[in-house]
Amino acid sequence: MSSKRLLVTAALPYSNGRLHVGHIAGCYLPADIFVRFERMRGKEVRYVCGSDDHGVAIKITAEKEGKSPAEVAQYYSDHQKEDFAGMGIHFDVYGSTSRTKYHFARSQEMFMSLFEKGYFEKKVSEQFYDESKSAFLPDRYVKGTCGYCDTPDQNGDQCENCGKVLDVSTLKDAVSVLSGNKATVRETTHWFIDLSKSQGAVEEWLKESEVRDHTRKYVSGLLSSGLVQRSMTRDLDWGIPVPLDDPEAAGKVLYVWFDAPIGYISNTEELCEERDGDSEKFTEWWKSEDCGIYHFIGEDNTIFHCVIWIAMLSAEGTYQLPKGVFVNQYLNIQFPDKEAEKISKSRGNAVWIGDYLEKGGSPDSLRYYLTAIAPERARSVFKPDDLVQRNNTDLANVIGNFVNRILSFTKKHVGDTPPQIEESKLEEVDIRFRALRTQTHRTVTELLEGAQTKGALEAIMEYARACNKYVDDMAPWATRKTDMARTELTLAVAIEAISFLGVILQPFLPFTSEKLLRMLSLSADKLSWDDALQGLALGVTLGDTEILFSKMELSDWISEKEQDKES
Ligand code: 2FM
Ligand code: ZN
Repeated sequence: MSSKRLLVTAALPYSNGRLHVGHIAGCYLPADIFVRFERMRGKEVRYVCGSDDHGVAIKITAEKEGKSPAEVAQYYSDHQKEDFAGMGIHFDVYGSTSRTKYHFARSQEMFMSLFEKGYFEKKVSEQFYDESKSAFLPDRYVKGTCGYCDTPDQNGDQCENCGKVLDVSTLKDAVSVLSGNKATVRETTHWFIDLSKSQGAVEEWLKESEVRDHTRKYVSGLLSSGLVQRSMTRDLDWGIPVPLDDPEAAGKVLYVWFDAPIGYISNTEELCEERDGDSEKFTEWWKSEDCGIYHFIGEDNTIFHCVIWIAMLSAEGTYQLPKGVFVNQYLNIQFPDKEAEKISKSRGNAVWIGDYLEKGGSPDSLRYYLTAIAPERARSVFKPDDLVQRNNTDLANVIGNFVNRILSFTKKHVGDTPPQIEESKLEEVDIRFRALRTQTHRTVTELLEGAQTKGALEAIMEYARACNKYVDDMAPWATRKTDMARTELTLAVAIEAISFLGVILQPFLPFTSEKLLRMLSLSADKLSWDDALQGLALGVTLGDTEILFSKMELSDWISEKEQDKES
């Protein structure tokens, strides 16, 4: 990332349910790791998120729960904030598209700007309709079979399987979610954004921006079939009113996918007001060349961020375009002796963050596992038994055991002040082992620059395994009886490695890193990314040795089908 300042966003979650492991793995955790890493490198970073309150998803939950959409949005937004905090995911601002005070005006302004520039066409079009409820059925109010890939039971707005945006002409066998009746079709007036006018701008952006191969391929595919017109207004009573002085606009609102990404801007305005006392400072992030904007999203959001949002921004013309959009694929779930399946509230197979944390599940163990299986290049599968196993082997046995055995041994046989590394006494084996720090640091840095959190964590684990091998080979417990100088040198090199791990693990496992560095009397928040290589352990005092990772058992924290809480 060459920019001095970074604005990082993670997709605004719909405020109609609690968060499960799929949400966290999709974009919030990778973005959090990226933000922590870039901050440690000295970049000025703002991490922006908030709830996506509009649209039919929130309306349907409100109807089910007998509450108003505003109540539902507030309730889940508050709970999602708790889930994020419990996982160590901290945003600089967590706004809301229905409450952030700048959001309505900013969204209407964007609509008017595009309208005045001729990007909208007012058209009478066919929409699904529920005769028994006398209501139009936008988006998720209707379900049916995807006309592109034939997957049944798809929401009216987008197919979960192929990612295609659906409408009246491409959703088959449509049924009203309101009544369960077959949907009919009626004419209504809407404002369509003409994406074909932005074809060149989107192509240009795709060429220059940082996106993963699967994203480039998917967006290139959309571009090669030619961008079309999409309706950006809806017949709905919950949302941002269409700001046109036109009787046919009465009672219509902006499509949730028109206003949602504008939430990135309006939440930045709110943040600037809070942090800098001046909301106008948002331009330093959105309109200044020395800031790079990076969006983290899940795969179903790709078309909206990499086509429609780019078209909106480039048509409006005064905002800078994102330098990168990092897309993770879906995370499926597989319980022991079951098939892998889509995470779904109704099937009761989700692992909810709130449940996991309430039962005492460690946030870092989950952060570790979700990063180890991150669906960066392809869809991947969350296996609860695999989480337990990776916690007990990778974390407890490999990292925890190395740190604990070295620190306890040093305290017992040398004392609280660790020995120094005497360069002249180093042997080939020490030199080779120490060089691994530099190599690992370089690899992890390069990978994290491209938000490749999975590969970066694998490189750290490989280093941690090499740490265990080093102490096994050097066997300080044996040399202690014959050669205390050699023993002290081994311990000094090993403690240097521990301090390296403490720093480099910080973006991934912040709670553990803090604990680990505390054992070396070091403070996590004072250390920079390059401090990992500074031999921090030298001269530090060893504090109390704490257990870094407890072993887990599957039954401790999860049983299938138990938790279909409030969402
Ligand atoms: O898929 C979702 O959960 C959407 N609410 C994401 C919106 S991202 C952004 F545009 F706000
Ligand atoms: Zn499909």
